[in-house]
Amino acid sequence: AIAANMDSKLLNFMQVPASTNDTVIVPKGYSISNLMSWGDPIFTNAPAFNANGKQDSTAQAMQFGDNTDGMSVFPLSKDHAILAVNNEYTNYEYLFDHQGKAMTADDVKKAQAALGVTVVELVRKDGKWIMDPKGKVNRRITANTEMHVTGPAAGHDLLKTKADPTGKKVLGTINNCSNGHTPWGTYLTCEENFNGFFGAEEEVALDDNYKRYGVEATQSKYQWHNFDERFDLAKNPNEPNRFGWIVEIDPKDPTSTPLKRTALGRFKHENAAFVINDDGHAVVYLGDDERGEHIYKFVSKHKYQAGNDSANRQLLEEGTLYVAKFNMHADKLEGDGEWIELTYGKNGLTKENGFNSQAEVMIFARKAATQVSATTMDRPEWIAVHPDNKHVFCTLTNNKNRGVKEGQDVDGPNPRAENHYGQIVRWMPTDGNHADNTFKWDLYLIAGNPTVHKGDLYAGSANINEDNMFNSPDGIGFDKAGRLWIQTDGNYSNEGDFAGQGNNQMLCGDPMTGEVRRFLTGPIGSEVTGLTFSEDQKTMFVGIQHPSGHFPAGGDNKPRSTIVAITKDDGGVVGS
Ligand code: FEO
Ligand code: CA
Ligand code: CA
Ligand code: CA
Repeated sequence: AIAANMDSKLLNFMQVPASTNDTVIVPKGYSISNLMSWGDPIFTNAPAFNANGKQDSTAQAMQFGDNTDGMSVFPLSKDHAILAVNNEYTNYEYLFDHQGKAMTADDVKKAQAALGVTVVELVRKDGKWIMDPKGKVNRRITANTEMHVTGPAAGHDLLKTKADPTGKKVLGTINNCSNGHTPWGTYLTCEENFNGFFGAEEEVALDDNYKRYGVEATQSKYQWHNFDERFDLAKNPNEPNRFGWIVEIDPKDPTSTPLKRTALGRFKHENAAFVINDDGHAVVYLGDDERGEHIYKFVSKHKYQAGNDSANRQLLEEGTLYVAKFNMHADKLEGDGEWIELTYGKNGLTKENGFNSQAEVMIFARKAATQVSATTMDRPEWIAVHPDNKHVFCTLTNNKNRGVKEGQDVDGPNPRAENHYGQIVRWMPTDGNHADNTFKWDLYLIAGNPTVHKGDLYAGSANINEDNMFNSPDGIGFDKAGRLWIQTDGNYSNEGDFAGQGNNQMLCGDPMTGEVRRFLTGPIGSEVTGLTFSEDQKTMFVGIQHPSGHFPAGGDNKPRSTIVAITKDDGGVVGS
């Protein structure tokens, strides 16, 4: 299954070496420009960024949010496009002059305004894409933007709060990790570690449902609950149930209300890999990024109708959620597997087992997955579907609990104890049918360090060598030609088990030959996350999240999360 052919015809760039520099490095023949950094004004009347950490919530709400993550380009014409991009979280150390040590009510509002989603127009001038602060669709969606809840959990008692007795109207989206997009032009943003924004001053009795999602009645480091009672578990214990969803946004209409799609389940959503199956059903593959959690698949009830987008806009409203079970064959790094339906009344999802409705199955999707004995995975991050052959790839970033904690035995697609390098699992749906309940799987790559480990799986698979090695694959995505771009969020100490791997980086894989080549190295402390292309594939946009040196301005400047635009100097397609 794992090939190591090193003469890929798909990858036509010179590999860059591992780096510990405080800059972004791309191959010879490529150039970089900075598209947008945290704090850049996205409206003509917005204040310029000031690094002093004293700007207020009103300023932040008119500027690019912090910690750029998943993003999608929506083309308008050859030189005009919309970019929708997630702002995952914020670093108080840089956001405030007091570094979070003297919080005020407005500081909490500012932090809330630094999260969510940013929508901006992009224009290409003289071959270079720039953000247009005059763009008509420019918009900030924050932790305080009104959204509607749709699908099976909408209006359920567990979603009702003092401020919203309907259980259908939520303020905001938070911890927006990665993304997806639909053929009807909407953006999907994924709520990941929402639990970290809730807290309490006093003891609150929270049952296992809170524990399973990591929601704790303790002092949260963001301190929102001290100034905004929505995030105080003692006052609003149902508020966390209103987060952990996929949110659908129409980026072309800045007055549109984002929709929380509860049919896709509640967990720590990483990304949403969307595909129209050959039979017309919309299929969305979904990872839940936590040690020992699961991989899910949503299949729409209705079919996609080309040209009928008002009907298509209902497709994520209703459907069936499944969770993956990988069958193991002693010590083999391949096998088969099945998708198990998470529908109330089926597969033990019954009153006897604590589920009273489809709404509860969706709200506590993790518990439902455990009930049906889904496979516990090594932190499922992004999923990507090959543009032609229907193969699906998922990064399993790392898992120190593998082989250590109960229920996380070493086996199948999670073949290493205390896995700190990560791997990429690939599955092939039976007959190329994404709606089929069975699949075959193998491992596309096993990250490792062949200079430190020899002769075991910690050295990595055959396509990993001392020149292309890395750890903790996270963001992945295909371009139109079928190149698999792989971004990392791992250990950048460059020491011990990670010696020679340098800073976080982006690589490019040929899914047919197995070859993997390093394309980019990130600045100090950063994670490389988020990728999308201009329609002609001649510009690639890449996110640099949480740099901790002085990127991008250098000198003594404060580090700022930044989207970079990468072009080939000869004007060709990136990677070609
Ligand atoms: Fe936000 Fe799992 O990365
Ligand atoms: Ca991630
Ligand atoms: Ca990660
Ligand atoms: Ca991150």
